[in-house]
Amino acid sequence: MHKGFTLWFTGMSGAGKSTIAGLIGNRLRANGAKVEVLDGDEVRIYLSKGLGFGKEDRDENIRRIGYVCELLSRNGVIAIAAAISPYRAVRDEVRARIPNFVEVYVACPVETLAARDVKGLYKRALAGEIAQFTGISDPYEPPLAPEATVDSSRETPQESADRIWATLEHLGLVRFDRSSLAHE
Ligand code: ADX
Repeated sequence: MHKGFTLWFTGMSGAGKSTIAGLIGNRLRANGAKVEVLDGDEVRIYLSKGLGFGKEDRDENIRRIGYVCELLSRNGVIAIAAAISPYRAVRDEVRARIPNFVEVYVACPVETLAARDVKGLYKRALAGEIAQFTGISDPYEPPLAPEATVDSSRETPQESADRIWATLEHLGLVRFDRSSLAHE
């Protein structure tokens, strides 16, 4: 049984959280780990159906994701969360509940995100068609002391994933001797 932990990605929409989370998840699985990825877009279809994007609803969304991560990681599963999670206080609240909590800030300048605009949402937000859009008309509070920061405007998803893997190694959560996963 490998050690459970929570890998929490935070960053603005389109920064690359899901892509990098997927790469790390695959690498962990390839090393024999049990992994669950809780992605904001998917969580909002099921677990957080009906929640909006005001501060209260976003905080509720994060508490729900955090609760599931807590249940999974205390049972030996590696839980990976990829939601904007724009508010520092509720992220820290989740951190305080989970023993092995690793926060990764996926940084990217808003100008780059708006230029990429994978989902076409920045264009609509800038045109005033989406209220309370993170980074445009709603706050994003970057973490003050994340375990890792990656910048998707300066590195590829694979480079980011490699650096995060190195952080997990440094924290003793994965390793390269005999097996790649730390054992309890
Ligand atoms: S969070 O703030 O509650 O953590 P979450 O990650 O679940 O957000 O959902 C973000 C996704 O919802 C974005 O990637 C985007 O596709 C969509 N979305 C719709 N409206 C908004 C909005 N007002 N602000 C940010 N994202 C939005």
